[in-house]
Amino acid sequence: MMGLLWVKLCKVMEYKLSNQPIKLVVMVSGSGSNLQALIDAIEDKSLSAEIIHVISNRKNAYGLERAKKHGIPTTIVSLKPYTDDGRGREQFDVDLANVIKSLSPDLVVLAGWMHILSETFLTTVGIDVINLHPALPNMFAGVQAIERAYEAFQQGDITHSGCMIHHVIPEVDAGDVIVQAEVPILPDDTLDAFATRMHQAEHCIIVEAVKKIQEQKETTHE
Ligand code: GRF
Repeated sequence: MMGLLWVKLCKVMEYKLSNQPIKLVVMVSGSGSNLQALIDAIEDKSLSAEIIHVISNRKNAYGLERAKKHGIPTTIVSLKPYTDDGRGREQFDVDLANVIKSLSPDLVVLAGWMHILSETFLTTVGIDVINLHPALPNMFAGVQAIERAYEAFQQGDITHSGCMIHHVIPEVDAGDVIVQAEVPILPDDTLDAFATRMHQAEHCIIVEAVKKIQEQKETTHE
């Protein structure tokens, strides 16, 4: 039932479809279901975008398989050699930013990307970077936000949770919000049921956020 509700929510969002596909680099660390939501929206022509590259910091991320199935080039990056030989996180971030810059995207989308990016990354990459966080603004920053929200609900500390897409700033899971959605937690929810509802909402807002940014870019260029 809730699933249906979110599907409807996705469908009622009306945006003018742009003629100019926005070029995306999508960064993943895991299953890539949010990457898939973007791929599906592009393929059903509800989003005018091109995913020019998918980057993963985990070689086993299923998101890489999803990209390959749709003919999207992929790159795996790894922090470990940098920490092993003393170059460190900062140099990793600079090199990663330069890889992205060489691809010339319009927008970088962190879709379940589990590596904290430094200020140096953001200044080096020099374009807008957006992130998906499975909680509402100022709530449950960091990992396991869904689990922590579920636990907080059980303790009676919250009545609902949500998810948001925000501009990335050096502070983790903060930055101006582009789109947010409330996600109910029901009294008889299992963690899995709540997580599934959360992912359905994520898949809506990630597409909506890209559309919104695309519209903003077009308005400022008109
Ligand atoms: C999402 O819940 C996201 O909010 C969190 O990691 C999950 C990624 O899911 N940070 P997927 O890889 O897109 O399926």
